[in-house]
Amino acid sequence: MTTQTKTRKKAAKPAAKAKAPKVPAARSVAKPAAPKTVTVDGKERYHEPAPQGIDLESFRQVVSSRRSVRKFTDKPIPQAVLDDCLDMALLAPCSSGLQPWEFYVVKSADKKARLVKACMSQLAAKTAAELIVCVARTDRVQEFSRKMLREWPMPDVPVLVKRYYQLIPYNYAPGPLNSFAMVKKAATAAGGLLAAVPRGPYTGAEVKLWAAKSTALACENLVLALRAHGYDSCMMEGFDEVRVRKLLKLNDAAFPIMVVGAGERAADGVFWPQLRFERKLFVHEV
Ligand SMILES: Cc1cc2nc3c(=O)[nH]c(=O)nc-3n(C[C@H](O)[C@H](O)[C@H](O)COP(=O)(O)O)c2cc1C
Repeated sequence: MTTQTKTRKKAAKPAAKAKAPKVPAARSVAKPAAPKTVTVDGKERYHEPAPQGIDLESFRQVVSSRRSVRKFTDKPIPQAVLDDCLDMALLAPCSSGLQPWEFYVVKSADKKARLVKACMSQLAAKTAAELIVCVARTDRVQEFSRKMLREWPMPDVPVLVKRYYQLIPYNYAPGPLNSFAMVKKAATAAGGLLAAVPRGPYTGAEVKLWAAKSTALACENLVLALRAHGYDSCMMEGFDEVRVRKLLKLNDAAFPIMVVGAGERAADGVFWPQLRFERKLFVHEV
């Protein structure tokens, strides 16, 4: 039972200051400055109320009017809008809170021309006002686990959280030729006979998939945020990965998962009506 809500005097270390947004509407989702707490069953707990009264129809309109746009007008996207959309991308949920993503906004005309070519000169890339390469990274697990503990947003790091982030870097280290992964897989297979256990990600491929999942969620936030601002996008995985890697000088642990072309939708920017198959093919109640 909750009995009271109060603001803690000792605020957590402030998170890195975000760039001052010029688009106030999007800021309404900002988190409270200091953690509020509530007493539940005699214990002081963090309290973040669920905002009510969000305009569902506006949300639905954002989601349902998002289309893959293959032709954009010449209109640029204001920097403040783009920054706001990127900020919203960074709010996506991410496995273990480890934010395994990076977004390269390609500004240089030369690099942009090379990126368009790497995207096989797709019209969505050629006409886009902005091209953003979305990259999943597997090599920052240790760095970000430590950062998480240093910047924990409450005055004390719970013991279990501390242990979790101390352990996780070992969990996600596949080792040479996946050797550590194979040992971990064998161990969890044995342990899994008795109880539910995590089965990965252990191998290099699994860790790559791990990073790609969270990064794709951030990409979705990005394109929905663009739509909410009146702009459009096209996610593209039709690109030459070798060329994109070279262009951005990515290391072996950074994987471009998609390029997002963004801009204002041209009158003929959507090529055909949206087609989704019948719901029963996808939604199951079990
Ligand atoms: C991961 C991913 C990769 C995609 N790659 C391309 C691409 O390279 N070129 C393109 O024109 N569209 C690309 N698309 C867009 C899809 O073709 C499009 O989402 C799909 O046809 C459904 O249309 P809608 O997005 O308008 O609903 C991609 C979409 C996703 C999610």
